[in-house]
Amino acid sequence: MKSFGSPVPPHHPHSETLTHVHWQQVTLPLPDGRQQPLQVLRLDRCDALAPGNKIFKLSGLLRTARQRECRRLLSFGGPWSNHLHALAALGREMDLQTVGLVRGEDLATPTLVEAAGWGMALYPLSRSLYRQRHDPAFQLACMQDYRADMLIPEGGDCPEGARGCQVIGAAIRQRFESGAQVVVATGTGTTLAGIVAGLDKRFQVLGISALKGALDTQQRILANLQALAGDNDETLADWRLYHEFHCGGFARTNSELRAVIAWGDHHGLPLEPVYTGKALLALRSLLSSGDIDAGRPLVLVHTGGLQGRRGFDWLALGAQPGH
Ligand SMILES: Cc1ncc(COP(=O)(O)O)c(C=O)c1O
Repeated sequence: MKSFGSPVPPHHPHSETLTHVHWQQVTLPLPDGRQQPLQVLRLDRCDALAPGNKIFKLSGLLRTARQRECRRLLSFGGPWSNHLHALAALGREMDLQTVGLVRGEDLATPTLVEAAGWGMALYPLSRSLYRQRHDPAFQLACMQDYRADMLIPEGGDCPEGARGCQVIGAAIRQRFESGAQVVVATGTGTTLAGIVAGLDKRFQVLGISALKGALDTQQRILANLQALAGDNDETLADWRLYHEFHCGGFARTNSELRAVIAWGDHHGLPLEPVYTGKALLALRSLLSSGDIDAGRPLVLVHTGGLQGRRGFDWLALGAQPGH
């Protein structure tokens, strides 16, 4: 494993830890026997408190919270949510109160136990109520009920969240002057939108949806791109979303996905099954199908999420420590 850093603008509001991006070069064996060089942008190593894409998505929102003198931030997430985990850690760091409204009844996952330990107040929401999380009237009612003065959208999905991810694109651009193909896992698509906005036409960004049938992701990305780039979107990187690599649905796994994660573990590239494992699985398949041009530089964005590995009993490395 080769790993080295290059500076990105520090934008963690309160920590000096985000001063480097880490690149790892791996060689990926393909089913037809070819060996594919791959550059992995290890965002999971960027920030100790909010690793992966989280620090990028949350930093602008937290800065706004500070400017508006907000004291109590409310957001939504599942029992293994990387987003709530990171928000709790950063909230504590910045002396902000945090509230997490959790899908379902299970507040006892290691993820949420840690979040609670960092001061996040957690409340369960039934699945039917959780489905209303994007509804402004429901959000307002939650803010009143839990005495919050700022709402952080689920997954940081808003133009501010996407704007924070532009520096990821800038870091890729800096390293690959003649362009590259960039593969990234998507949930809300916020990270992808920011990366696309940070790149230009020399780059193609391929988003791998971790969800089954999330056909609204395209619209969310377009909305964030419109907010970021306005009518200049013609100059941005080309992008495309793939919906066929969900492996059965969100947080579902299959034997192929497990094999990819095992391969990563043996090559110093820890992945998790919900997002990054699916991205590497898709990347391999798209190389085989010719959708990815093996002759051009190829980047996999490691968006973090390793704390969530603890939710999968079959993963030997189940004990990724909390912060
Ligand atoms: C580890 C990881 N990778 C990728 C994503 C997808 O990011 P986005 O919702 O910005 O598409 C998430 C969710 O935030 C995540 O936790």
